[in-house]
Amino acid sequence: MSVMPSSIDRDEPKPAYSLARMQVDDLPEVMTIENDVYPFPWTHGNFLDSLYSGYEIWIVRDSAEALAGYLLLMLSVDEAHLLNIAVRRDLHGQGVGRLLLDHAVSLARGKDMQSILLEVRPSNERAVNVYERYGFAGIGVRRGYYPAGASRREDAIVMRLSL
Ligand SMILES: CC(C)(COP(=O)(O)OP(=O)(O)OC[C@H]1O[C@@H](n2cnc3c(N)ncnc32)[C@H](O)[C@@H]1OP(=O)(O)O)[C@@H](O)C(=O)NCCC(=O)NCCS
Repeated sequence: MSVMPSSIDRDEPKPAYSLARMQVDDLPEVMTIENDVYPFPWTHGNFLDSLYSGYEIWIVRDSAEALAGYLLLMLSVDEAHLLNIAVRRDLHGQGVGRLLLDHAVSLARGKDMQSILLEVRPSNERAVNVYERYGFAGIGVRRGYYPAGASRREDAIVMRLSL
């Protein structure tokens, strides 16, 4: 008598990307992306402080469970502030940034925020383009906001998305 396997693996196809809250255990992978995509990355300590600060901090994993990106969102009275958003370099331009922005919007709307603010370097044309395409509009400049190496500073463009 032949014995059939008692069950055949017929898992549902995994979604391409899944969202979850960031945990301390995610930080080694987070730091790999952070150090790769930013010329002036946040430190491990910056992320750790944020994790204990009550911000909305989310990661997205790809179907192989590898970290694909993350976002940090601070919710104030009626305004959310996007503190950090990054996508693994080999996935740039494939919609993961938009997925994270959609999540930021849904988190902010869920807490009755009126808008989302962010700062971006004018030299980061890719990010400025992504934000503009998403509907953010420039509302001002913060002079000398970012370090730019050799004791120099770079301005920040302040952008706002009305919800
Ligand atoms: C900025 C960043 C998060 C965007 O993520 P991404 O996954 O590459 O973005 P997406 O693929 O979701 O693109 C979002 C939109 O911008 C468009 N876009 C993407 N790259 C673009 C580019 N170089 N120029 C113009 N438009 C671009 C996409 O077509 C898409 O528009 P659509 O949805 O209307 O088609 C990512 O590039 C990144 O991690 N950069 C390094 C870290 C960083 O600079 N973070 C921002 C700091 S302020």
